[in-house]
Order: sequence, then C-alpha cells, then structure tokens
Amino acid sequence: MKGVILAGGTGTRLYPLTASINKHMLPVGKYPMIMHGIARLKQAGIRDILIVVGKQHAWAMLHLLGSGEQYGVTITYRVQETSGGIADALRLARGFVGDGNVTVLLGDNIFTHSLESAVHRFEQEQLGAKVFLKKVADPSRFGVPTLMNERIHSIEEKPVIPQSDFAVTGIYMYSSSVFSIIDTLSPSERGELEITDINNVYISQSQLDYECIEGEWIDAGTHQSLSRAQAMATDMQLENILTKPVRQIEQEVMTNS
Ligand code: DAU
Repeated sequence: MKGVILAGGTGTRLYPLTASINKHMLPVGKYPMIMHGIARLKQAGIRDILIVVGKQHAWAMLHLLGSGEQYGVTITYRVQETSGGIADALRLARGFVGDGNVTVLLGDNIFTHSLESAVHRFEQEQLGAKVFLKKVADPSRFGVPTLMNERIHSIEEKPVIPQSDFAVTGIYMYSSSVFSIIDTLSPSERGELEITDINNVYISQSQLDYECIEGEWIDAGTHQSLSRAQAMATDMQLENILTKPVRQIEQEVMTNS
C-alpha cells in the first residue's frame, strides 16, 4: 500500500495565516500540520509517500521534509499548478500508485485513530474504495453520507440539510481504478473536481465500504477548527512514530494483523 497526502489548495478559509505560508506548514502542537499525516501513514506501515503541493509552497515542504529519510519514509513530490480540487490533486498520483492500492489523506485532517488494521483489511478485501466516517456536530461543513441498512446509499458534499450526523473524513483508501474514475469527472459548481463525486461512482458500482474512526478527528481548515486541533495536539508526541525504526513498525503491524 502506498500513501498520498494532498497538501495543495489555497487555504483561503485560513487567511491571513495562509497569505504567505502553506496551510500544511502551520503549527499543530509541536509539529507543522503535514507531519501529522506522515506520522499516521508511517504508523500504519506505509513508508512510500507522495505529497501533492501547490507550486508557491513546494520549496518550503521540501526544505522541511526532504527525502523523508530522517523519518524512515521515502517522500516523492508532485506539484499541483492550480487548485482544481481534491480529485484533481489526486490525479497527479497515478504514476506513483501504479496498479496497487493507496491510502489518501487530506493534509489538513488531524486524527488519533491508527489506520494499521484498516490498511490490512483493505489489502485483503479487494474492494474499490473505503471511506472513514466520524460523528460530528456540524455535518454541513463536510461530505455527508446517507446511511441505509448499514450501507452508504449516497454522499452529499456540504449539504444544507444533512441526511446524517456523520462526516466523511479526509481519509480514503482506493484501488488503482480511482484514476480512471477521475478521468470521467466534471468540475462541480465551485469549479473543482470533487472527491465526493469519486466516492459516489464507487457507491453506484457497489464498491464502497466504510469504517467509523475512533478518537479525535479534526479538519483543521478553519480558524476555529485549527485552534481546536492545536489544543488537542499540544501534548502529542509524534517523535515516537516518526523516529521509530521501520523494522519495529513492520513487526508491530505483522503482530497485530
Ligand atoms: O476534511 C473532510 C472534508 O474534506 C470532506 O468531508 C469533504 O467531503 C471534502 O471535500 C473535503 O472538504 P474541504 O472543504 O474541507 O476540502 P478543502 O478544500 O479544505 O481541501 C482539503 C485538503 O485537500 C487541503 O488541505 C489540501 C487538499 N487540496 C484541496 C484542493 C481544493 C489539494 O491538494 N488541492 C486542491 O485543489
């Protein structure tokens, strides 16, 4: 399984913090936001990671993370020229993912849930896609699933009247078929290729599964939610994951799966 972190976009909801700094470089606890995603992928046994970044900020990301060697991962970069949406950013990962499966994280999602066992299950299941749900107080901010008989019937992006109190979090697992689905998408009303449209195609093919995540989950893309993420992560020790020898993580994944 490979990993992709999407860290392009403009971060307009966080202006003026993001006027000259990439959203994913802002501090969340002791770490720049992007390092949370790297830690969660590494914790799940994923070491081969692609970061998609906007061209204004690619240098800063490279300066911070380099090849990934110091964290025991290998980082590749792709530049998204313009903010064409989450699915547009994911399209850039096609060559990197090849024929395998991929875990995709939105770079502004901060969470405590370990993806280790879900990665293992997805590799066994041979499904098209898996999304991760979390019960929230403000579903209208997110992609919201309609649940029927414990299955996702459809997902609506930022609905005015949400059909459930779950958010589809920015954690996704896909087979390589995701790239041919992206080829069929058209821009939404806000001019973006939407990740929710990808997931709705998988629903129509009966190829979308879901799991609920435990612990804390925050989309840190607004001033209010960024402050909450910063408070939640104050005492978080990502060093334990980022500097842990890869062999030890692999052994733990094997033992727990
Ligand atoms: O956080 C979960 C939510 O994320 C989901 O519930 C929604 O279905 C999904 O559309 C997304 O909504 P947001 O409005 O929060 O997405 P946002 O535009 O903030 O983008 C999230 C991340 O995706 C951002 O941190 C960087 C990346 N991105 C975004 C765009 C628009 C890119 O890499 N390129 C882009 O062009």
